Amino acid sequence: MVCLGNICRSPLAEGILKNKIEKACLDWEVDSAGTGDYHIGQHPHYLAQKTAKMYAIDISCQKARQFQKEDMLRFDRIYVMDNENYEDVKRMSKELWNKEKVDLLLNELFPGENSDVPDPWFGTEKGFHEVFAMIDKACERIIASRVGEAFISSKNISVNFKKSL
Ligand code: 4NP
Repeated sequence: MVCLGNICRSPLAEGILKNKIEKACLDWEVDSAGTGDYHIGQHPHYLAQKTAKMYAIDISCQKARQFQKEDMLRFDRIYVMDNENYEDVKRMSKELWNKEKVDLLLNELFPGENSDVPDPWFGTEKGFHEVFAMIDKACERIIASRVGEAFISSKNISVNFKKSL
């Protein structure tokens, strides 16, 4: 899961997908990174942490890191949050770039539309909730398209219990 700072969108995506993977008893490895180096070593934005916590997902231990070209080899699939991230990952991957592995996350929901997960960094808490909902649906599709809708229903992975508002 890749965004610009690795403190808002991709930490949420990492936390959400890991949560669903656990519920579905899958053994996939998930990580996140940023194309920028501004926030390396920092924990997720407090509003990203707060939003995730409302859905019983703890992302407080994550620490930002920068995308490395070797990630292109290490992972089978790389999801970017927006079109700028896509171009940055392509540029940073250099000779290791593999187009087949990389896609915009929202193409899982709207194939071929190349829509961005908007950056909530400059916005309000509401923006983090909107981004959470988009990423949540997309992550559900990632699992459903690989293990089947029936499996998803049986594991109840789509229910993110809201602890408090
Ligand atoms: P993210 O959000 O890419 O979703 O982590 C951002 C975080 C920080 C900055 C930009 C976007 N920044 O400019 O520092």
